[in-house]
Amino acid sequence: MSGFRRMASTKIIFEYATFSILLLISLSYVATSLNVSTLCIKEERIVLLKIRKDLKDPGNCLSSWIGKECCNWKGIECDNQTGHILRLNLQNSHICGMEWSPLSGQLNPSFTYLKRLIHLDLSHNNFQGVPIPKFIGSLGMLSYLDLSWANFSGMVPSQVGNLSNLHYLDISSLTASSIWVRDISWLSLLSNLQYLNMNFVNISSPSTELFRAVNMIPSLLELHLSFCNLDTLPPSLPFQNITSLSILDLSFNDFSSTIIPSWLFNISTLTEINLYFSYLSGPLSSKFGRGKLCKLQQIQLSNNYQLTGDISELLEALSCSNQTLEWLLLSSNQLTGKLPNSLWQFNSLLELDLSNNSLSGPIPASVGNISSLGSLNLQGNMMNGEIPESIGQLTKLSTLNLLQNFWEGTMTNIHFHNLTNLISFSVSSKNKSLALKVTHDWVPRFHHLHDVEIHDCQVGPAFPNWLRNLKSLFNDIVLVLENVGISEEIPLWLFNISSQIWQLDLSHNNIFGYLPKALNFSSSYSPTVNLAFNQLKGSLPLWSGVSALYLRNNFLSGEIPVDIGKEMSQLTELDLSNNYLSGSIPLLLIRCKVLVILICPTTIWWEKYPYFGWVCRDLSNNNLSADLSSAFQNCSNLKTLVLKYNRFFGSIPKDVTKNLPLLAELLLRGNTLTGNIPEDLCHLPFLHLLDLAENRISGSIPACLGDVHGYKLPQTSFKYLMYSFVFEDHVPYTRHIELVFDGRIVDYINQMVVHSTIDLSKNDLTGEIPEKLSELVHLGALNLSWNHLTGNIPSNIGSLTDLESLDLSHNHLSGSIPPSMTSMTFLSHLNLSYNNFSGQIPVANQFGTFTDPSIYEGNPHLCGTPLPTNCSSLMLPPRDEEEDANESEDKRERFWLYGSIAFGYITGFWVVCGSLILKRFGLETN
Ligand SMILES: *[C@@H]1O[C@H](CO)[C@@H](O)[C@H](O)[C@H]1NC(C)=O
Ligand SMILES: *[C@@H]1O[C@H](CO)[C@@H](O)[C@H](O)[C@H]1NC(C)=O
Ligand SMILES: *[C@@H]1O[C@H](CO)[C@@H](O)[C@H](O)[C@H]1NC(C)=O
Ligand SMILES: *[C@@H]1O[C@H](CO)[C@@H](O)[C@H](O)[C@H]1NC(C)=O
Ligand SMILES: *[C@@H]1O[C@H](CO)[C@@H](O)[C@H](O)[C@H]1NC(C)=O
Ligand SMILES: *[C@@H]1O[C@H](CO)[C@@H](O)[C@H](O)[C@H]1NC(C)=O
Ligand SMILES: *[C@@H]1O[C@H](CO)[C@@H](O)[C@H](O)[C@H]1NC(C)=O
Repeated sequence: MSGFRRMASTKIIFEYATFSILLLISLSYVATSLNVSTLCIKEERIVLLKIRKDLKDPGNCLSSWIGKECCNWKGIECDNQTGHILRLNLQNSHICGMEWSPLSGQLNPSFTYLKRLIHLDLSHNNFQGVPIPKFIGSLGMLSYLDLSWANFSGMVPSQVGNLSNLHYLDISSLTASSIWVRDISWLSLLSNLQYLNMNFVNISSPSTELFRAVNMIPSLLELHLSFCNLDTLPPSLPFQNITSLSILDLSFNDFSSTIIPSWLFNISTLTEINLYFSYLSGPLSSKFGRGKLCKLQQIQLSNNYQLTGDISELLEALSCSNQTLEWLLLSSNQLTGKLPNSLWQFNSLLELDLSNNSLSGPIPASVGNISSLGSLNLQGNMMNGEIPESIGQLTKLSTLNLLQNFWEGTMTNIHFHNLTNLISFSVSSKNKSLALKVTHDWVPRFHHLHDVEIHDCQVGPAFPNWLRNLKSLFNDIVLVLENVGISEEIPLWLFNISSQIWQLDLSHNNIFGYLPKALNFSSSYSPTVNLAFNQLKGSLPLWSGVSALYLRNNFLSGEIPVDIGKEMSQLTELDLSNNYLSGSIPLLLIRCKVLVILICPTTIWWEKYPYFGWVCRDLSNNNLSADLSSAFQNCSNLKTLVLKYNRFFGSIPKDVTKNLPLLAELLLRGNTLTGNIPEDLCHLPFLHLLDLAENRISGSIPACLGDVHGYKLPQTSFKYLMYSFVFEDHVPYTRHIELVFDGRIVDYINQMVVHSTIDLSKNDLTGEIPEKLSELVHLGALNLSWNHLTGNIPSNIGSLTDLESLDLSHNHLSGSIPPSMTSMTFLSHLNLSYNNFSGQIPVANQFGTFTDPSIYEGNPHLCGTPLPTNCSSLMLPPRDEEEDANESEDKRERFWLYGSIAFGYITGFWVVCGSLILKRFGLETN
């Protein structure tokens, strides 16, 4: 019974449960199928699906666009009541998250059905150059339109002007000139606009029209017109209507043809003004409307280069903003005057950048009162005086740059007392009158300092131990103590942080001792170490991870380790000149497989303009040996090869044009090279320094040397080619190449004089001097002395009008001194001694200044001043003939003179234009 009952009740319960479950299921089914409250409007959902169909979505960012309820799809926002789509936000980061996975494809015209859209954002995608669609103009409700950085191109359609409800319009591009505007009049129709960004849009309608249109938009708060190809600013105030403009960005336009209009600095509502790199010129302070700019927070006027004015007048004019101004950025202009003591009034300043101007006088002590100051940059001015101790009160200061001024006096630990947030500190004194002296036991209070750069001050003789706390989370410690009078060994603590070092420069001190054999530089930013010009001893260290190592002018000895290429596999620059190294250059190194020695421009620059890069290889004055014949293979970046005074043997490197196509300077003096001068050398287009002196080279001088293009370029053009692209602030490494010129050693790079030179002296050359050499019109020095040359001096040698030095002594040359030589008006050094020259020494022009008879001695048949031999005592031509000769000499002289002027003009013209073409080519191919 109880069992039955139990069974029955169990059954009932079971049936009831089953029923309830079924009921629930069916109810919910009905509910779902009857859920008429789907907010999304079917037609709009279909529109969205059409839009999606035309888009390419490799990252599947629109994967949520399924099902009926489109109002829940990513990027869609509907009106809660009506269900109409109000906002479509397809900004890449909004729909795809962190990973950039741009949408591309077409924009389906059915967009126009989304009539209620008030917010459309398609930014940061890649529509691969499709134009901004005209139909956008029919979305008349839009108040927010962001099409920025979406790789649209072509003309901005005037239909945008139909969007009269727009508050926000951003059509800025990522690349210049891919979007443009010819007729800006549509802009004036957007009378409710508050934010307008057209950066990188090429606006070719006249600036007056642009600003007239802007003036029709009284509501405007932000105007961004950077990189818009604007070229003029209207002279009179176009902004009567603009009553709320807060941010004005006109940076990166070229206003060089206009004078700065005063309205620009008269807009009293401005909080930020950006005119960076805008080619503004002329006096600045008079343009500021006194008492007008009272809300300014940021002024960016850096890198206009030609802006002038007195800094204290300028600050006076800005004093109305003394409570608000946070960023005052005026670097790289021509501002003058002294910093006034009233500077402290600007007590909200976060950053003050006055670098690269012509400011004078000292830093006012009141600077210590700007307690908010985070960054102070006074680099590259003419300021002097003592650095005030009050600087040590700037608790918030993280960057202090005092490089390249004329500071005097002493900086002590008091100057750093409260700089607890200091990250970067740099100072140098051009007149070397600043000393840095901290008490021995001083423990600095900064804990994040990792960037210290001190040049040309007195820091030593002891190594500054207060720097032992340098620390960097990102392994980017920079420590530069160049020419600071340290004469001590490098302390161990410095080597202990090698793994954190990015840049170490201790050059030009008297640091002695031995370097650790092995260190690990593991910074991922290509660490560089410069210990040049010290007194370091021992063998060459093998420091893994180092990408550039400069050790020139030390006392290093021993052999270059064979495994250097393996141990220092990151090495791209190495300078070992003027040490006592011996042995052979390891093959790995010399083959350029591992090592490319790149010195002049920065690496960044190199990547950008490989065509103009400068690669140097300077290993001179060591005791290195190797067979040079096939040493350089595929060294396509090598521009300068300097291996002077070593023990290299073999012939001049083979296949030069193939293996060293950019070689411009080949200096192999003082080795034991044999063989001929290969004709292949003549095909190096940039060759302009050839020094093969003091070797055992034989054979004749190849006539084709007269074809080398590099010698036909004026020296100034070489300067242009080689240096003009080097960034103004960046001096990567002081490069030294000593050239024997005129019997003197000229460190020509430091003097920025590039001479064209051929020096083949002290070899075993035979044959004649090729007539063709006289085509090297810009040759500066020619030295063929101490060979076995025969024949005459080429009769056209006078066309070498730039020649300053000519040495043909100690050969077997004969004949007369060619009359054309009198047109070589730059010739200051001549040596023709110990040959078989005959006849009269010319007297015209430069020859009148050669009064030292020794330059002609050893030529028994030569006569006339300054030699004691009187020409009449030798066999003389009849007098008439001599007159004829003189007359024709005159004519010839004039011919050479005019000819060389014309030629110089033509080549000069070609070189400037040609290099511009090359430059443009270089830019475009990159
Ligand atoms: C019906 O649709 C609304 C709106 O999309 C949703 O919030 C709700 O959960 C749906 N109801 C059912 C029972 O699915
Ligand atoms: C619409 O819904 C959103 C989110 O549910 C809410 O924040 C908003 O206030 C609603 N708007 C109206 C007008 O009800
Ligand atoms: C923009 O589109 C053009 C034209 O299709 C294309 O060549 C270019 O690579 C695109 N730019 C970017 C950044 O993808
Ligand atoms: C603006 O819209 C009106 C009607 O909506 C249309 O007639 C006119 O052509 C449009 N103008 C532009 C420039 O698209
Ligand atoms: C000022 O703005 C209004 C509204 O856009 C416009 O009608 C008027 O012409 C503007 N005035 C000037 C001088 O541009
Ligand atoms: C700021 O400048 C005004 C003059 O424009 C001056 O009256 C005021 O005293 C200055 N503020 C300070 C803190 O010096
Ligand atoms: C350093 O700061 C403390 C307060 O943080 C202050 O008492 C002291 O006077 C400051 N010293 C200097 C030299 O500025």
